[in-house]
Amino acid sequence: MIELIDITKAFDGAAVLSDINLSFKQGDINVIIGPSGSGKSTLLRLINQLEQPTKGTVLFNGKNASEPRVLKTLRQTAPMVFQSFHLFHHLSVLKNVTIAQRKVLKRDRKTAETKAFQALEAVGMKPYAYRKPAQLSGGQKQRVAIARALAMDPKILLFDEPTSALDPEMIGEVTSVITNILKNTPDLTVILVTHEMAFAQSIATRSIFMDKGHIIEETKGNHLFTHPKHPRTQQFLHKEGH
Ligand SMILES: Nc1ncnc2c1ncn2[C@@H]1O[C@H](COP(=O)(O)OP(=O)(O)OP(=O)(O)O)[C@@H](O)[C@H]1O
Ligand SMILES: [Mg+2]
Repeated sequence: MIELIDITKAFDGAAVLSDINLSFKQGDINVIIGPSGSGKSTLLRLINQLEQPTKGTVLFNGKNASEPRVLKTLRQTAPMVFQSFHLFHHLSVLKNVTIAQRKVLKRDRKTAETKAFQALEAVGMKPYAYRKPAQLSGGQKQRVAIARALAMDPKILLFDEPTSALDPEMIGEVTSVITNILKNTPDLTVILVTHEMAFAQSIATRSIFMDKGHIIEETKGNHLFTHPKHPRTQQFLHKEGH
């Protein structure tokens, strides 16, 4: 459903991703791990075209993702959940979850609100619909951000370190919400970057290790975590306390 073909991305002439070839199939839970600065966020941003490749092509269902019409569909079906939540602070939880539905999907208010309440229910945040983000904990904010993505009826869900801005006691609340969603949405394609190794291992149907802008190793399922072949992968997992 998403293909990256010979992708290179450079900033100011310095390559941060080199010759990346990857394809993502429907229903897979793709977990991406790797050291800081290895290009994981850049890879996610290329997938939903927040960044353009310096070289190479991103295909979405076989079509070039940079074409305006393809890009529009891609943006509608592949929301991203960020490390730092990216909520609108002046809007209520409910408004945060309806605004993109109204603007991007052109849903009427009632439909958008019904959908928002369902999504908030799925992440355990329905009772907080009329609060503002400032009145929520980090874990609660992230659950709202996940509800906002879910309310778009995504085909692909992108997560960029969804727990790394959270206090330790809130990490589990967010990882279990994500695990639950994956259980209840079997067709959803997920591409998730994380430093939570146990969580990654528990959900992966495919695992990818990146270093210095390259894909070093990838496996089906979570074999990468149990049987890493490449010395760099072994070293990284060891360092992460795995
Ligand atoms: N907009 C930008 N302009 C210039 N350099 C950038 C930009 N975005 C990322 N980089 C550089 O690209 C490299 C890869 O960054 P990226 O954020 O993709 O890494 P990462 O694997 O997500 O790291 P982390 O685990 O710390 O989030 C880094 O060296 C970073 O400084
Ligand atoms: Mg990153």
